[in-house]
Formats: sequence, structure tokens, C-alpha cells
Amino acid sequence: MSERILTIAHRGAAGEAPENTMAAFQLALEQGCDAIELDVHLSRDGQLIVCHDSTIDRTSDGTGEISNLLAEELKRVDAGRWFGEQYAGERIPLLTEVFDLVPPGVMVNVEIKDTSGHRLEPVLLELLKREGRLDNVVVSSFDHESLALLKQLEERVKVGLLYDCRPVRHALMATITGFDVYSLHPKFKRLDQENIRECIGQGLQVYPYTINDELSIRRAIDYGVSGIISDYPARVKRLLAQ
Ligand code: G3P
Ligand code: CA
Repeated sequence: MSERILTIAHRGAAGEAPENTMAAFQLALEQGCDAIELDVHLSRDGQLIVCHDSTIDRTSDGTGEISNLLAEELKRVDAGRWFGEQYAGERIPLLTEVFDLVPPGVMVNVEIKDTSGHRLEPVLLELLKREGRLDNVVVSSFDHESLALLKQLEERVKVGLLYDCRPVRHALMATITGFDVYSLHPKFKRLDQENIRECIGQGLQVYPYTINDELSIRRAIDYGVSGIISDYPARVKRLLAQ
């Protein structure tokens, strides 16, 4: 059983600041999060771009597919004003900029979103090695083949299986995938205490997403999950301290 429940800031403190921006990451750090979850895509010129959607339309004043845009074009758009005027001027971060901000003691959970077309995995691995982040980054994805490829390229990388179903089958699957899985990232609504215990008993970390309301956070704490992925890290910290 994991002793300490990690507070994992989903897209930063995305409930209080524009998701996947430096402002959201900075706020999450100030709130004392243990880890930051973020999403990455590859730009047209092969840069790792931090953004949830495959397009920038929803979370910026720009438009277009990230894979069709150069990093310098992505840098020109405003990624904060849509959330609130006080965030005007926020830029879409490069993953390397987030590593410059986040101290090594805070884990980063990099979710691979962009799994079509060109391969992002070697680019990500190269960056993790260059930045000395192999030990305190967990790479997760709904695309488990992408994670398998990462492990094939670099055995030391920690990978987490994301999915939207009960975890037991996947915990078992993790033992037959042929690669070593560090963590499970199931949808919280699918969980019960029994299967969480089973997974943790198998030596896996269990980080359910995305848990925002107080009642659900309390339930996750009672269940004994390994970490709580939330848009409201300050709320999680407060309830954990009670
Ligand atoms: O990593 C957990 C969660 O972020 C997965 O869903 O859509 O918020 O990226 P989504
Ligand atoms: Ca995500």
C-alpha cells in the first residue's frame, strides 16, 4: 500500500488558470503539488508542444493543427486570454520550458497525445535524457503501443497506462504486455477500493483522473490511491491535510 498520496496537478492548476500554461504550472507549484500532469504534441518542426487538443483553437486565439504549425508560429498566439483577461499574454509552452520551471523534486507526468503520423517517442526520450529527467518523469498515454515503443527504445523510462475502464484487467494486462509498467491512470468513476488494492498490491502506482469535487477527492483518499490527478491541487492538499 502506498503511504503518501501524491497531489498531481492536471494540466497545471487548470481549474484556476489556463490549462497547460506556465501560469497554471506556476500556480500548481505554489499550491505545493507533488506532480504536474501535461499533454504533448509534436509541431511541424519537431518541437514538443504542451497542449491538450491536437488543434490550438479551443485554448488560444489562434487556429490550426499543431502538427501543421511551426513552434515559432505557435509561440505567437495568446493562450491565456480565453480563460481570463488577467492571463492575456500567456504563451503555449514548449516541454523544455516546463522542465526549466519545475524543480527536479516535482514529478512531471507527460501524456503523449499525438500518436499519429510522425513518431514523437524518440524526440521525447532524447529530451528526457538531455534534461536529466528520466527518473522523475512518468510518460502516460491511452496509446499503449506508444508506451511499448518507448520502453523498447529506453528500458529506464517510467510509463503509465491510461484508460477508461476498470483497472484490474489492465493491471493483469500490464503483466503480459511484455514491458514494465510503473503506474495505472484509470478514470476515477470506474474504480472501486478492491481493484485499487489489487493493483497497488501488484506493485503498481494508481493515479486516477480527473478528481475535482470534494466528495470524490475524499473517496479517493479513503480508497488509498497512490495519487490524485485534479484541476484543483490546493483543494486536494487541503483535504489530504485534514
Ligand atoms: O492523464 C489524465 C487525463 O489527463 C487524461 O485525460 O483528456 O484530460 O488528457 P485528458
Ligand atoms: Ca492529460
